[in-house]
Amino acid sequence: MGDLSLIILAAGHGKRMKSDNSKVIHKVCGKEMVNLVLDAALGAGCKDATVVVGHRKDQVIRAVSGRAAIAVQEQQLGTGHAVMQAAGLIEKSDNVLIIPGDTPLITADTLASAISRHIRDDNGATVITARLADPTGYGRIVRRADGAVEKIVEHKDASEAQRQINEINSGMYCFKSAFLLGALKKITADNAQGEYYLTDVFEILRNEGARIGAFEVENSEEILGVNDRVQLAQAEKVLRARINRRHMLGGVTLIDPDSTYIGTDVRIGMDTVIYPGTIIEGSTVIGNNVLIGQNCRLVNASIGDGVDIWTSTIIDSSVDEGTHVGPYAYIRPDSRVGKNCKVGDFVELKKASIGDGTKLSHLTYVGDAQVGKNCNFGCGTVVVNYDGKNKYKTVIGDNAFIGCNSNLVSPVTVNDGAYVAAGSTITDDVPTDTLAIARARQVIKEHWRDRREDD
Ligand code: UD1
Ligand code: CA
Repeated sequence: MGDLSLIILAAGHGKRMKSDNSKVIHKVCGKEMVNLVLDAALGAGCKDATVVVGHRKDQVIRAVSGRAAIAVQEQQLGTGHAVMQAAGLIEKSDNVLIIPGDTPLITADTLASAISRHIRDDNGATVITARLADPTGYGRIVRRADGAVEKIVEHKDASEAQRQINEINSGMYCFKSAFLLGALKKITADNAQGEYYLTDVFEILRNEGARIGAFEVENSEEILGVNDRVQLAQAEKVLRARINRRHMLGGVTLIDPDSTYIGTDVRIGMDTVIYPGTIIEGSTVIGNNVLIGQNCRLVNASIGDGVDIWTSTIIDSSVDEGTHVGPYAYIRPDSRVGKNCKVGDFVELKKASIGDGTKLSHLTYVGDAQVGKNCNFGCGTVVVNYDGKNKYKTVIGDNAFIGCNSNLVSPVTVNDGAYVAAGSTITDDVPTDTLAIARARQVIKEHWRDRREDD
């Protein structure tokens, strides 16, 4: 089919968002709108992508960095003017797909179908359209008596009769690159908004005898443009339903899909069950037969088969097969929990690696530590990793037993098979298979009460 380039228009202000930020970096299901649009277009086969930026360009450039080239539109003089800023890219490919950066619900499938129709019919230009019950505000598709597309008229420039047309311009198009470049040179800002309209190229191309096509989407929901926070929430709801449906059809049980929040890139295995109120974000990967109880938050987590997690938070960390987490555990970045472990209630891990079979049942903090296999941590154990200035590392071998309410003052090593007596504050290394007791010996004062009361 020849090369197909992509241009995403994202220079506009988006005033109705009432935001200090660029409209297109607002997130839907955890991902910036501009990146959702990029995903769809790249998924449909576009080769090079350019994003036209202007308002808060720093934010947009950061969001798409490494994924797209950038063209800067200093002043927002209209969609036609925006495309002109990326003229260099258009020249390089046979065809170009243009999409606004604020339509997060468009799918790769729909774009791919529109592109194949454009190529199959050998069109100079193809506009993606939709029929809406209320077309107010959108550009209207004006067709001739024989059904051919005549032109696109903006709502503000439309006559009363044209405003009755309910087929609208989605703002997404395919063009033969050479045709688009030629036509862009001829557009003017002579219209109701004083802008260079990209839509004007349709009438120009028609008058030059080019073939113009219209591709009507099956589901008009896909072309929803987000202009304010109400539409942002609508988009979130639609995308959430789509993502959740995909997981359910893939063998995941969602007890209440309306209150389960899963990011676009999350992967979940079969027979996993997820309870309400759970938020799963980023590049999280979850295995088979996992149970995720209510109100968990998982961010870029990697969860092995058969793990169960209740009311807990796991960030940038992994938990291996068969481990129990929670309720109320907090696993912070760079932690790795092995197989068949227990990370129980009010346990916090940070940059900690926990060996297979180790149990931290309750009220324990382990930070900057490497813990071996089959250890047992009693209730209330603290790895004292911070002296107010620096953080130090603690190493605990295999089969160690750390008694309740003990402090391990880092840097310190507890070797394989060692015991730490309850209530100890350990400041020196504990050798293999020994018992360390680091607490004051108990003293009994006989008749204490009687003597006090005599005073
Ligand atoms: C545009 C279409 C309209 C269509 C509608 C679909 C034109 C003239 N009209 O109208 O027919 O029904 O989209 O949503 O194209 N942008 C820039 N630079 C600019 C102006 C806009 O990059 O100078 C970007 C915006 O950031 C946005 C996109 O282009 O992502 C569309 O611009 P917007 O002003 O929202 O166009 P509409 O008036 O909605
Ligand atoms: Ca718009």
